[in-house]
Amino acid sequence: MRTVKIKSPANIAFIKYWGQRDSQFVLPYNDSFSMNLSDCYVLLEIESLENIGIKKLYIKNYQKENFEIAEKESMKKVINFYQQAKNFLKIKKEIGFIIKSQNSFPKKAGIASSAAFFSGLALGLTKLFNIDLDKKKLSILARLSGSGSACRSIPDGFSWWHKGKDSLSSFATSIAKPSYWQLVDLVLILSKKEKKTSSQEGHLKALTSPLFLPRIKHINDRIRRIKKAFFKKDFTSFGEILEEEAISMHSVMMTQKPPLYYWSKKTVEVIKEIVKLRQKGLESYFTIDAGENVHLICQKKDCDKFFNYFKNFPGIFDIIINSVCQGTRLLK
Ligand code: PMV
Repeated sequence: MRTVKIKSPANIAFIKYWGQRDSQFVLPYNDSFSMNLSDCYVLLEIESLENIGIKKLYIKNYQKENFEIAEKESMKKVINFYQQAKNFLKIKKEIGFIIKSQNSFPKKAGIASSAAFFSGLALGLTKLFNIDLDKKKLSILARLSGSGSACRSIPDGFSWWHKGKDSLSSFATSIAKPSYWQLVDLVLILSKKEKKTSSQEGHLKALTSPLFLPRIKHINDRIRRIKKAFFKKDFTSFGEILEEEAISMHSVMMTQKPPLYYWSKKTVEVIKEIVKLRQKGLESYFTIDAGENVHLICQKKDCDKFFNYFKNFPGIFDIIINSVCQGTRLLK
């Protein structure tokens, strides 16, 4: 029996995944596009055991000293994924395991903690079963965890999730390596509070929003425009499109039934500040995932200026500075 150690990054999407056209196989309506986050990651240590009766998960949260046994709900997701992985890998053998998971950032707060965790677990389980999957298959497996965006944490740098025609053609690939463009994501932490509705529940209701189909109708045009801006390294166009996209996704979230209001008063204050600074010539753009925390996207040359400006800003109690990094990897 063996122990594996894995490091897996969270990712922030510039073109978002919201809504599932197939919830069993976690298939999206549209392609999505993200960068891996160097300083928002999960470290996993997974030990396999002969005793198949032991299946445990311990979590050490952001800024906590000790590991604690995971809640039932999280354990259930792990067991489900373990079964999915066995089916996908065609493994008959049963194993026991102990997983120790450490987060460098708050979980369930709109910073893709489940993407980081399940992409790492996908790699970990394949190693425990002595199977080497290529990145494409690993990305498919990570997607099947239920946290679809986990598939984007597998490739290096900037990831593109191809929506695909079916389960085997829906996976993420790297469209540029980390050094391609020195973008920075300053995660402005406004709250460590865990959200009440998970994104996985939220996806299932996306279609109840009258804005969902108009969003999907226009998304290919937005995808075309952001790709062009990305390959020209045109930061202004790139930023305007990623902001437009974040607002489009949140408009769907806020108008689906029941509505999901992830933004708080502080979120809006910070957004307005970003826009105000931009009007004064200091250029950055915001995006927000399923949580109230704000991701400020800027170029590396401006990173210190934004950090210094926001570090004492009322309501922001921590800032995590992320450059673009490689994907999920085995440490040992
Ligand atoms: O992969 P999930 O089920 O955790 O959903 C992720 C959804 C968003 O983070 C809101 C958007 C995205 O594409 O990352």
